[in-house]
Amino acid sequence: MELFEDRRKILEYFQGHGILVSPGALDIILNNSMGQFLNEIASPDVLSSGYLTENDVKKLIKKPERKKMNFEVYIPDIKAHSSVEDFREMFVDRYERLSKMVIQSSEMRGTYAIKTAKKASGKVKIVGMVSEISNTKNGHKRVLLEDLGDNINVFLLKNKGLNNELILEDEVIGVIGSISNSGKDPVIFADEVIRPDIPYKMIDEEKKPPVYVASLSDIHVGSKTFRKDDFNKMISWIKSSNEEAESLKYLILSGDVVDGIGVYPGQENDLAVLNPYKQYETLADYVNQIPEDINIFIMPGNHDIVRLAEPQPLFSSKIRDFFNSNVTLLPNPYNLRLEDKNVLIYHGMSLNDMIELVPGASYASVGSAIEELLKRRHLAPVYGGKTPIIPYKRDYHVIEDVPDIFITGHIHSFSQGNYKGIRYINASTWQSQTDYQKMMNFSPNPSIMTLFDLHSKTTILKDFK
Ligand SMILES: [Fe+2]
Repeated sequence: MELFEDRRKILEYFQGHGILVSPGALDIILNNSMGQFLNEIASPDVLSSGYLTENDVKKLIKKPERKKMNFEVYIPDIKAHSSVEDFREMFVDRYERLSKMVIQSSEMRGTYAIKTAKKASGKVKIVGMVSEISNTKNGHKRVLLEDLGDNINVFLLKNKGLNNELILEDEVIGVIGSISNSGKDPVIFADEVIRPDIPYKMIDEEKKPPVYVASLSDIHVGSKTFRKDDFNKMISWIKSSNEEAESLKYLILSGDVVDGIGVYPGQENDLAVLNPYKQYETLADYVNQIPEDINIFIMPGNHDIVRLAEPQPLFSSKIRDFFNSNVTLLPNPYNLRLEDKNVLIYHGMSLNDMIELVPGASYASVGSAIEELLKRRHLAPVYGGKTPIIPYKRDYHVIEDVPDIFITGHIHSFSQGNYKGIRYINASTWQSQTDYQKMMNFSPNPSIMTLFDLHSKTTILKDFK
């Protein structure tokens, strides 16, 4: 109603001044909340021509104000050793935070501790961490669930269609089911499995000019297969004056920014730059060409010169010093808050494990694996796969805040999707097919930059191949 009123009022204003308005011009005025600037829009030129075109208005769209900002980055505890006690504390922290999310869902109202559920009869609701999974000889699935006080076997029955439910070790789930005391120990026959999951989220299309955050990943500077020409093309595009580039305010590099050294046997044969510090210097030569009023964030990945185990710390100050002051270093993973939006960034090592576990996921199609992470509110649900993790008192892989945008890399394919309102991508790479990928029969999809508008659900792909 209000919009209709706005539209009518704007048309009335111009009619009063003897100006015809093109439909495109009217849309731009409405979409960019320019209603208060009608005086400015009705410039002498427009008044004399008697016609308002799209271009007349476009010229007046306010570009977002860009300035170099200071970002406070939270840094995970870094210590040299971890003990058995640290593992316990990390799993307790994970359990406590994820079980809270499960219990919050309305279906889980009236959840019992496992110990209490064992003494109950009929329907029960419990939450626990998965500590064992097996299949029974009758084709049912058995899951041992554990909370802080006890554990219980839960059966996912074939005739209820639950035997195919994807259950991962160490994930935290809620179960609604019936307790059975007929055997030696009480067990639960599940009716339903409840995950922490993402609450459906309305994306508010704000009526504001776009502000873009751009994502680049897996650049692999220093490798012979680094796509230098495409990368240069992309940098020139950022520097050029065009509407999209001028609305680009943030740039995120989510790991494997250089190729590193000693990452795999024989890597030296694939390197154009052997010294890893030289690799960062070369990267800085590119990145430092980007206007200083664009805020740049750089996170490590498994090829970078920091500890491999996650959470990965920031680069050393020696590497930091190669870059201009508009560069902020981030640990991996990281939840970055940009203009009231949560941008969750994770290089993505756990995607290797997830691709093996999630039916239908593959290196070429990693979206379903990414969605399974979001559903579980955890970036590396299975402990002890190919993802090295150092235990801390806090589990840094729990997805505490619901992201608006979720960026991963590592796989070198490109995929994008939307899960319950969260725009997610597996970012592209800036490296051509490597011998290893050839051997694995995998073709990367390189040289794509993704732009996310922070004020709408618009996502734009820029292909620099
Ligand atoms: Fe990687």
